[in-house]
Amino acid sequence: MPPTAEDPHAARLRLHRLDTADARAAFARDTSDGLSASPKQLFPKYFYDELGSELFDAICLVPEYYLTRAENEILACHAAEIAAAAAAPDDAPLSLLELGSGSATKTRRIIEAVLKRQTSLLYLPVDISVSALETSARALLQSYPALSIEAYASDYDAALAHFGRERGRERGGRLLALFLGSNIGNFDRDGAGQFLHALRAVLRDGDALLLGADLKKDRATLEAAYDDALGVTAAFNLNQLVRLNREFDADFDPRAFRHVAVYHEAAGRVEIYIESRQAQVVSLPKLDLEISFAEGERVHTENSYKYDREGLDALAAHTGFACTHRWTDAAGRFSSNLFVAR
Ligand code: TRP
Repeated sequence: MPPTAEDPHAARLRLHRLDTADARAAFARDTSDGLSASPKQLFPKYFYDELGSELFDAICLVPEYYLTRAENEILACHAAEIAAAAAAPDDAPLSLLELGSGSATKTRRIIEAVLKRQTSLLYLPVDISVSALETSARALLQSYPALSIEAYASDYDAALAHFGRERGRERGGRLLALFLGSNIGNFDRDGAGQFLHALRAVLRDGDALLLGADLKKDRATLEAAYDDALGVTAAFNLNQLVRLNREFDADFDPRAFRHVAVYHEAAGRVEIYIESRQAQVVSLPKLDLEISFAEGERVHTENSYKYDREGLDALAAHTGFACTHRWTDAAGRFSSNLFVAR
């Protein structure tokens, strides 16, 4: 496509939609299975409609959600080292693949460090939200004339399957995969292993993964991070109900539910729920469903697992990586881990 007046950067952007055909059917099935199960659950990937993605960006700005600021501090201090550690010995160009790129604000630190070492850069962001993908891609292209973007509107599974098929195709240079924030924390321990294994399969020996992981710490800090005083996280969580109202004609009254975040220390995870404030029945006509809630009944919406250093080393070792570098913020709250494929 030639550049146009509206979008002078269009020539450097390609947007692929990998999973639109069955995405809606899968959302309907997951919702209906999840709300019919006992205990009830909803799935984290459906948080990120347009408003959900914006609310998540707002979470990253609330004082209690230290994760984003801690990771940003690490990237601001160590991006040059990260880019050097990920580069090939012959300095062949590095490309970046990011899973769950969101607004890609923190990614800027890495992009800038890589562009100090090479004259152009290919960035492959994957995100479930098309709106977040388009907005962030345009902003990045505006900032970096040497950047080109192949963006994938997709969930992780479809994206990894796609990159697996592409793997045979000759691609010069190395790939640095980014999985930032606390994205890995949303998998349970087995799921994290399976996911990293699948990601390892699309990498070649010597390629690397920069993995963000929040560290175990005191309950009060963790629970506040997932239940901020302004109620931004509560709005983000309850927005799932608003989305069900819009997409399935459901009649959830978000005021009749509350947001709950509890740290389960033995399991090392913050558990997030939507709790019914009263006994009530909700209907979802497009799913042909009526769901009863008892007073105090909870719908599980997400886990956010917290890690320690030994756990991260073990995770690397049993998924085909070696953890060669680990950086933490000055306060020791969050870690960025360089996993090299071997
Ligand atoms: N992956 C983020 C995390 O675990 C997402 C997140 C932050 C989140 N706050 C939340 C998910 C509240 C659900 C509810 O930190």
